[in-house]
Amino acid sequence: MMKEMKSRLAKKTKIALIGFGTVGQGVCEILLSKENELKSKYGFEASIVAISDVMKGTVYCADGLDIQQCLDLAKAGDNLENYAGDCEKGWDSLRTIRETNADIVCELAFTNVKTGEPAITHCKAAFENGKHIVTSNKGPAALQYAALQKLAEKNNVKFMIEGTVMSGTPILNLANGPLAGCTITAIKGILNGTCNYMLCEMEKGMAYDDVLDKAQELGYAEADPTGDVEGFDAMAKVIILANVLMDNPISAADVDRVGIAKITPEMMTEAKNENARWKLISTIEKRGNEVKASVKPEKLSLTHPLASIMGATNALTFTSDLLGDVTIVGAGAGKIETGYSILTDILAIHREK
Ligand code: HSE
Repeated sequence: MMKEMKSRLAKKTKIALIGFGTVGQGVCEILLSKENELKSKYGFEASIVAISDVMKGTVYCADGLDIQQCLDLAKAGDNLENYAGDCEKGWDSLRTIRETNADIVCELAFTNVKTGEPAITHCKAAFENGKHIVTSNKGPAALQYAALQKLAEKNNVKFMIEGTVMSGTPILNLANGPLAGCTITAIKGILNGTCNYMLCEMEKGMAYDDVLDKAQELGYAEADPTGDVEGFDAMAKVIILANVLMDNPISAADVDRVGIAKITPEMMTEAKNENARWKLISTIEKRGNEVKASVKPEKLSLTHPLASIMGATNALTFTSDLLGDVTIVGAGAGKIETGYSILTDILAIHREK
């Protein structure tokens, strides 16, 4: 009986979640609702063995946790350490990464695009302990992509970051997969769902502060929404795109960044009268060995393709030598949408097993 249980667990992908906020809970909901489909279509079975959250506590069970119970505790605002069952409790995030039996660590702790911490330390600890990282946290990829990628390779594990740009809408995997062979020379798009949602609602007459509250309620905005409205979130995505897809490392100092906080109701009305609309546009252009990058509000004519992108939806156009323009429009934020980005990267690791 014991032997059978062990071999069943050995077949499963063992996952530790660092962070059990919106995205972590989204991942769990997807794994529960798609359990049978993932097993029958892809032979994929997952076991969440550990969850560690700085506010909600830590639980670890080498044989797998009862995910529904963890979700119920989080929804009730209860500490995870009230989990009923035989498991370890009270560990910190680093001990969870180093000492649990997880194959994959999903780094879903809060995003800090200025220091990248504690996520960078989490990634390093995972790699040094032979564990893959799957993350939607922009800090590590924006600040230390090359170094972390090198450390992952050295330890023969993966650093998967699809969710860092446009949540689960495939951007990085599209460029690195189906678009491989194309040289990307420019990228332009709407990369912050919160700002796009806010601009749309402000156009309808809603006040800036009310619409920002609503964006937070809907789970689009970061824990600290200044990162969204001042353009830091889009800037981090621009840096990631340039660093991962253009072989030309840039940093915050190279991005001309302006947020949407200074857009007034008068400017909205003026744009409307001109058959135009304000959008927060991210642009990266490669000229020779130089990359020019910016995030700033632009008043687009309503006939411009990006002018019709509404709500929290994002859009991005790749310009490449062999294909010209390829545009992808899709979700840029949200619990299930970002949870999906984690699933797609986990499945990619599973396919290579
Ligand atoms: N706060 C981000 C946005 C979430 O609004 O786009 C996804 O990165």
